Parts: sequence; C-alpha cells; structure tokens
Amino acid sequence: MRSSIATATLPGQPKKIPAAPLRLCFVGCGSRARAYAEVVASRPQLLEAVAIADPLASQRADVRSLLGDTGVREFQTGEELLAAGRLGDVAVITTQDKFHYRQAMLALRAGYDLLLEKPAACTSAEVHDLVRLANELGRRIVLCFVLRYTPFYRAVKRVLDSGRLGKLVSIQATEGVEPWHFGHSFVRGNWSVREKSTPMIVQKCSHDTDILSWLAGSECTAVSSFAGNQWFRPENAPAGATARCTDPCPHAADSSCPFPAQRYLTDKKQPWLPQVMPGWANASDDEILDWLRKGDWGRCVYTCGHDTPDHQVVSLQFASGVTAQLLMTAFDRGRRIRIHGTEAILQGSLHADGEIHRLELRLHHGGEAEQIEVEDPSANGYAGHGGGDFGLVDSLHELISAPGPFDNSHFMAGHLIAFAADAAFHTGRVIVPAELLQSSVF
Ligand SMILES: NC(=O)c1ccc[n+]([C@@H]2O[C@H](COP(=O)([O-])OP(=O)(O)OC[C@H]3O[C@@H](n4cnc5c(N)ncnc54)[C@H](O)[C@@H]3O)[C@@H](O)[C@H]2O)c1
Repeated sequence: MRSSIATATLPGQPKKIPAAPLRLCFVGCGSRARAYAEVVASRPQLLEAVAIADPLASQRADVRSLLGDTGVREFQTGEELLAAGRLGDVAVITTQDKFHYRQAMLALRAGYDLLLEKPAACTSAEVHDLVRLANELGRRIVLCFVLRYTPFYRAVKRVLDSGRLGKLVSIQATEGVEPWHFGHSFVRGNWSVREKSTPMIVQKCSHDTDILSWLAGSECTAVSSFAGNQWFRPENAPAGATARCTDPCPHAADSSCPFPAQRYLTDKKQPWLPQVMPGWANASDDEILDWLRKGDWGRCVYTCGHDTPDHQVVSLQFASGVTAQLLMTAFDRGRRIRIHGTEAILQGSLHADGEIHRLELRLHHGGEAEQIEVEDPSANGYAGHGGGDFGLVDSLHELISAPGPFDNSHFMAGHLIAFAADAAFHTGRVIVPAELLQSSVF
C-alpha cells in the first residue's frame, strides 16, 4: 500500500455540471501529472481519464492509483498513445520541456485539444508554430500558466481592472525560488543545463512574464536583462567537500553545508523526493541512499556544472508606456509584486514570509492601507501553486467546451518576453520580443 498515493477526495462542487465529462489522455505521468490527476479524480462530473502513457511503470502506477480507475488504458510512450487514434478529447502533455513541441504537434494532428505544460516549447518560433497549427485545425491549447488561476493573482487583476489604482504606470515583481528549491531543480535537477531543457528565465519565470503581460494589458516592445551565477560555484564549496554528498562528504554530517543530499531522507524528503525519484514511496532508506550515490540529486551543489543563473533582472517596456521589472533570485522565497498606479499602490506576496498570500492597497493621497481579501486556496482542499493547479484543472472543461472563438495566442506574449529576456542576457542587447520569431535560437 502506498502511503501518500491515494485517490483524492477534494471537497467542493464544480460550478456547472456538463452533460458529459471531458476525456483526458495523460502524456507523461510524472510530478505534474500526479498534481493534475489528483484534481481530476475529485471532479468526476467534469473530467475522466481514459489513457495514460509513460515509459516508467512505477510512474504509471502512481497516476493510475490517484485516478482510482482501473479502466484507464496504458501506453509505454506518449507517441504510442498519440498514434492509437483519438482516444479522448484532451491530451494532457506533462513530459519534460524538450518533448512538448513534438508531442503537442502530434496531438493536435491526432485530433486532440491540449492541456500543455509550460514552457510550451523550446524556442519562440516553436511556440508560434503551435499556435498556428492549433488555429489552422480549429483546436484549443490551454497552457498551464497556473498562476492566472490562483485566487491571489485573480484578486490583483480584479483590483487593477476596477480602476482603483488610477492609470497604471509601472510594475515590480520578484520570483524568489528559494535556495534548496534552486539547488534541487536548477543545479542538480532537470532544468540545470539549458541545452537539455529550456533557459531558467523561460522555464521558471514564463509564469511571471505571463502575469506581467496579462496585468500590463499591452504589447511588450523591448526587453533587457542581466544575470549571473553567484553562489553555486566550485570556489564556494566548503573546504574538503567531495563530488558527491555520499562519498562521504565531511560536511554532510555537520551543519557547515545546508545542501547535503542526505536531507532527502529527512526534512527535505517532502515535497522534493517524490518529484524526482520514481518509486520513492516504497523505497527503503538504503535504496534512497543508493539512488543518491548514483544519480544527479546526490551531487555536490557547488560542482554540478550547471549553467543556470541564480539571479536575473529583466526590464520591460510596453507599448502603452507602462514599464516593468522582474527579479528572479535563488535567495528569496515566494513571489512579490508592487503595482504603481497614479492613485494608489497595490502590493502583495504569494508564499512569502511564511504566509500563503497578502495583498494591500495604499492610496497616495491619504487614508489607511487597505487589506484586500483573497480567497484561501486551501478552502478547496488543494493549495498546490497557490491554488492555481486546482483552479486550472477545475476550469478545463469550460475552457475547452465554451462555444465561440478561442484565443490560442493567450500564451504567446508571456513566452516571447521570457525568450527575449534570455536573448537579452546572452547577447547584451535590448530585444524586441516580436522580432524573435525570426530566430531559431531563442
Ligand atoms: N505549471 C507549472 O507550474 C509547472 C511546475 C513544475 C514543472 N512544470 C513543467 O511540467 C513538465 C513536467 O515536469 P515534471 O516535474 O512533472 O516532470 P517529471 O520528470 O516528473 O515527469 C515527466 C514524465 O514524462 C515521462 N516520459 C519521458 N518520456 C516520455 C514519453 N516519450 N512519453 C510519455 N512520457 C514520457 C517520464 O518518465 C516522467 O515520468 C515540465 O515541462 C516542467 O517544466 C510546470
């Protein structure tokens, strides 16, 4: 019996009950698929999983167990699933970044609408291609920019749209990745080498560039960016550190290094180990240690040879005259935003300072700061990504089935800005996002 894999029973009812649930085919059964499967299982009137694909049997077993449905068809790969005819309505593509473009193109041609993980593809030209093909075929792509579905960012947008800030002038945003998370995902992990995945600012911060573009409500016309890797470098390793924490490293046992991989057995087991170790739930401590001895997550964070910056600043100019700044740093926790209007400032944070969220409005010309109420995402029984995972999947049926035209370009702007930030950092130039569509590199 798996201890933490169980059929979800999330409280709350969907807003509208449709005549039939949407039939979903999961392409990839990893960490994101499990998060979505949990919500799917709690929404049987809206969503039904009919097929799953993953080369790893243990990954398929975990998703099957969360779905609580033995009738789901299984495939070894997404490609096999997508070649088997149109088995459902929506292909849920949650493989790693490098797979998205090819599998999404296959799925669109096979007749599926898509729930597609971010980033949609590895270059802006590929993202554009996906939008073009979906439009040509009359299919819909819902992109997993889950932050738009959080109660926090919905409240931010509501206040902005209400006009209470006056005319929008500028936005400042910070994405604090947090040191352990940064080491886990961007130094040791899946997104540590640009060539094998996507650039850090695209992979992690396309969420933020999407939010900035959504809030600015205007085309981004210029982007500049600077970045660097300050800390996770060989010269910052404690003296005598070994290549693997399990070698054994003298600093794994004492408290001189905060990053020993042995923490995956103790205080960092959750939520980190399930994200990266297939079959973790049934693994003994010895098996986990053995996995650390051989695999990427047992390596010393100072000598992994990653090429991701641990801090990056991005400056944006919008056609409306609004400007924005984004700071990504490994050395803060949670997202923060300050929106400057001619009448007031709206400022808040999500998963920062030990709170789920906080949002307040301050008038420039008098009056007390006003705390803006934000719905508690855990009221739905599900707080993943500030409630965004739940909000997105709960809205999926409506997004896919709503009559009328569908805007497949809703995710272009956020991607283009993020690729432009990467291009600006690498070339040292100011980049016009729309011009990137001519580039095969960014
Ligand atoms: N929306 C968000 O907030 C958010 C958060 C984290 C990650 N992501 C993105 O979600 C995606 C998945 O991330 P993850 O952490 O779940 O990855 P993961 O590595 O846990 O899962 C990917 C799965 O795909 C499987 N796979 C490999 N080749 C396959 C194939 N040909 N067909 C089918 N399955 C195959 C792997 O075995 C693995 O189980 C990534 O692109 C990541 O950038 C998005």
